Amino acid sequence: MDVDEALERWRGLGPQAGSGSVGAPRHVLLEGFHALKHALRFGAVVPVALCADRAGALELAAELAPDLEGVLAGLLVEVDAETLRGLVARPHPTGVAALAERPEAVTVEAALRGARRTPVVVLDQPRHLGNAGAVVRLAAGFGASGVVTTGPLDPWHPTVVRGGAGLHFATAVAPLEVPELPDGPLFALDPEGADIRGLTLPDDALLAFGSERHGLTAELRARADQLVALPMRPQVSSYNLATSVGMALFHWASASGAAPA
Ligand SMILES: C[S@@+](CC[C@H](N)C(=O)[O-])C[C@H]1O[C@@H](n2cnc3c(N)ncnc32)[C@H](O)[C@@H]1O
Repeated sequence: MDVDEALERWRGLGPQAGSGSVGAPRHVLLEGFHALKHALRFGAVVPVALCADRAGALELAAELAPDLEGVLAGLLVEVDAETLRGLVARPHPTGVAALAERPEAVTVEAALRGARRTPVVVLDQPRHLGNAGAVVRLAAGFGASGVVTTGPLDPWHPTVVRGGAGLHFATAVAPLEVPELPDGPLFALDPEGADIRGLTLPDDALLAFGSERHGLTAELRARADQLVALPMRPQVSSYNLATSVGMALFHWASASGAAPA
């Protein structure tokens, strides 16, 4: 693809890419080499990828993603830095930006509702886009089946996608309300719950976490099968949301044959 073709394609798809949570944009912006690398590894369809320094980007590929060298060589189109700045509000230090097709809702639903061998993480009314991105990254690393958010936060918001480092494509990410949650035993994380160290979290569990400010909603608590606590010294009120997800997934992974080796 030549530069003109790449720019035309970008402009045809791009206006929705950075537009936040209005509707469900068909394409999401991948910012930086690592986000593009992750998205491609997990099967994202990437109709256009731009870079300010093609030789530099391909050097990164040789060093960090030899599995994708050929794909990236065929995909990356060099544009001047000024042009890139005109298309992407804050170009990434690696000078790479791409647009990826957001998975169809039916595909995401099927992954969340089909027979599952690993948990789904439920964020109940999260507020912080960076936390949500960090959780997507954790879910991808632990091979969790999905990340579901209740409430107004869009888990495909560009800031969440940035925080997730392109790993939305490695798990199933969707907004759902509590009555729509997938089936499965629901373990809700709360400092008042039973000590997690005495529990085995099943592979088909839903692991739910409350909002940064208010904790779990009454609606989520009512759907929970069990409240679960992470060990914590007295006088500390709570852990950060994303670190709580990391600890709970680690606990599940420590006892499960379905967790990544
Ligand atoms: C920052 S905390 C919420 C703090 C909030 N002020 C509250 O009253 O619960 C975000 C979420 O992380 C999880 N969490 C934090 N510390 C925890 C702990 N010690 N045990 C279990 N879950 C915890 C819970 O799901 C909590 O709702």
